[in-house]
Amino acid sequence: MEKLIPGLEGVPIMESQVGFIDGQKGILEYRGIPIEVLAESSTYEEVAYLLLWGKLPNREEMAKFDHDLRTHRRVKYRIIDLMKCLPETGHPMDALQAAVAALGMFYPAKIDPAEIQPGTDVLARDKHYWSIIRLIAKLPTIVAAFERMRHGDEPVRPRDDLSHAANFLWMLTEQDPDPLDARILDVCLILHAEHTMNASTFSGLVVGSTLADPYTLVASAIGALTGPLHGGANEQALRMFREIGTVENVRPYIEAKLKAKARIMGVGHRVYKVKDPRAYVLQGLAEHLFRVKGEHPLYRVAQEVERVINEHVGAKGIASNVDFYSGVVYDQLGIPIDLFTPVFAIARVAGWLAHWVEQMKNNRLFRPDQIYTGQHNLPYVRMEQRT
Ligand code: CMC
Repeated sequence: MEKLIPGLEGVPIMESQVGFIDGQKGILEYRGIPIEVLAESSTYEEVAYLLLWGKLPNREEMAKFDHDLRTHRRVKYRIIDLMKCLPETGHPMDALQAAVAALGMFYPAKIDPAEIQPGTDVLARDKHYWSIIRLIAKLPTIVAAFERMRHGDEPVRPRDDLSHAANFLWMLTEQDPDPLDARILDVCLILHAEHTMNASTFSGLVVGSTLADPYTLVASAIGALTGPLHGGANEQALRMFREIGTVENVRPYIEAKLKAKARIMGVGHRVYKVKDPRAYVLQGLAEHLFRVKGEHPLYRVAQEVERVINEHVGAKGIASNVDFYSGVVYDQLGIPIDLFTPVFAIARVAGWLAHWVEQMKNNRLFRPDQIYTGQHNLPYVRMEQRT
């Protein structure tokens, strides 16, 4: 009998050179470069290039990629109009998913099966290159526009003279972003850009394997990222810190949750059995930001949660993940709580697309199997005879 592996835990579904995780040692690398090194020395734009092309760009390559991103930030007024019709009480992730799905209707992106052969490099095809540029460039504009419009304000036009992270802060506030805030957000985007075969990447690849276009792929990946077990956890973690409120409340709150077998958001991971390396970097960023701008009122609560979790379930390999400290950082940067997961998507789109580029070189339709546990050959009972 076939063996069922719930959640495909530990099952490789393809070969990849994009990212690497060692969950026992707490290692994360993008294209072989440790995440800590990229967080220290790189920018989100450079990391996106690295993920997509598999190498660091030279000066000319970087300049062209950066220029292409900067000049494709604007979104069509019809996309703005479409978002105006969405309820302002709706979640920004749902607005982002709807807008990205619609975006694909405006640009040539459909794939003819004949164009995808073994070894096809979609980056070398104009149509696909520009889809990739548009998706990375426009996601921040869509998120910021929805945020402005749900408060009754006009969207702020993107600026070509700012970096990806700084421009996003500009579009949210219409204020010149503080350089430290922009750099902190830039590092957050680097940390969230790729994470091997997570649920949203897998979801995107399932869609990609049917030769659906990259807009559809990204819309599906955004859908998977919304869930509280995946990207939605960053928002839930900050809500939990707010609910706890004080350091004194942490122990009884966490112990009651653990006793009730409830999930603590921002901790635990399918792959990491030690503290997520991105959580270390985020904690360092948080402390740097707080030294300059004053401590976030919930930082000590978060630290105490981490201590109590470690004491109770640390030995089981449950430790802080990337979503644990990202919330206090985003909150300190003035980013509204329900934009935390959209910020994750703004970053992760590079990873999703890098996996798609790799997939198109050697595509095979995903069509797994199931173990049928139902009945066979049952009679059709007429309505009058049904009880
Ligand atoms: N709080 C309390 N207990 C937990 C948690 C948690 N967050 N995570 C795992 N456990 C326990 C779980 O109850 C189980 O205990 P037992 O063996 O006694 O039944 C054991 O650990 C194994 O749990 P599992 O559900 O088999 O583990 P998993 O690999 O399915 O869990 C996870 C991965 C991320 C779904 C889970 O850790 C979780 O729900 N975490 C909270 C949500 C979260 O922070 N998600 C973000 C993940 S990182 C960013 C991203 O990828 O989006």
